[in-house]
Amino acid sequence: MYHFCKNIEAISAYKPGKPVKEVERELGIKNSIKLASNENAWGFSPKSKAAMEEAIRNANIYPDGASFYLRRKISEFHNIPIDNIVVGNGSNEVLAVILRTILREGTNVVSSQHAFPVYKIMTQSCCAKFTAVPAQNYRFDVYSMMKACDENTAIIMIDNPNNPTGTYLPYNQMMDILNFAEKNKILFIADEAYIEYVRAADYKTMMNVFDKYENLVITRTFSKAYGLCGLRLGYGIGNKEIIGLAHKVRDPFNVNIIAQYAGEAALEDQDFVKRVVKNTHDGIDYLYSELKKIGLNYIETQGNFILVEVPGSGKEFFDKLLRYGIIVRPVGEDLHKHIRLTVGTMEQNKKAIDAIKEVIKG
Ligand SMILES: Cc1ncc(COP(=O)(O)O)c(C=O)c1O
Repeated sequence: MYHFCKNIEAISAYKPGKPVKEVERELGIKNSIKLASNENAWGFSPKSKAAMEEAIRNANIYPDGASFYLRRKISEFHNIPIDNIVVGNGSNEVLAVILRTILREGTNVVSSQHAFPVYKIMTQSCCAKFTAVPAQNYRFDVYSMMKACDENTAIIMIDNPNNPTGTYLPYNQMMDILNFAEKNKILFIADEAYIEYVRAADYKTMMNVFDKYENLVITRTFSKAYGLCGLRLGYGIGNKEIIGLAHKVRDPFNVNIIAQYAGEAALEDQDFVKRVVKNTHDGIDYLYSELKKIGLNYIETQGNFILVEVPGSGKEFFDKLLRYGIIVRPVGEDLHKHIRLTVGTMEQNKKAIDAIKEVIKG
């Protein structure tokens, strides 16, 4: 009856966790701790709060459709021209718009096993095929990814660092696959959602080469280190042609007025970001040492979360932790022996470790 694409029919929808209040009601618990969505336990900058309060007064008017002041602030922050920037309702929307701009039926996207699961959904939504190349020891294998490309490959997508594994690719490997993509006229998307947390010495942002490659788009988000995920705000940087097309394809008023004001103020408060990152690193170091004592394997992370291998299945362990009021993420797919634990405040981390110990005791 209807004409729709087979790839859309095949989508398995993204499964967000239940609202915390609902989980508490079902289990009869209170004061649970949610360490499930890689949110920022320290909130957001007071400067963003003040900007939001000002923006609320203007909520009866449409936001600036071009997000001019926010884009100007981003352009000053990165020292790049404003025409190379598109902002979106979360970096998710930026990614979706870029994919919508490029993909059509018959094309494909090459990414990796364990990549951010939304990539597959976005690709299928554009009627295109998603190829997840097997990872090596949880890391993307860029050389196998190159081999997996064919004449219909339109985009290579890499989130670096990667969610949910926390692994990363060193700069030389990113450059190898970027050069391959350029030679083969493939768009290369580098999703840098967790960049603020990276400690690996051989990691570098692709912003270093943004103006040297016409096939490169970099995405960033205000959701993680800036703590503004509830507002939905992210941006993409690339050459003027592709960014110009994205501006044509995106919704006319895609970023709301509160997010525009808050994002501008957030960039002005880098001290806040530094504090968040320091607290997160302290939390990671604490969790590593406690997990080692407990005897659980984990993957070293460059993000604000840790993938932990648990006894039994991740789903069972998740259910057991719930009873102690700790909400984590059972990753599922082919990481069914793992849970993903977002780094919280030290108090939250300690409670999570206590609960993990209790679950293991049985
Ligand atoms: C790797 C990665 N990319 C992109 C996003 C999307 O972030 P947002 O749409 O909140 O900017 C996320 C969110 O968790 C992520 O983990």
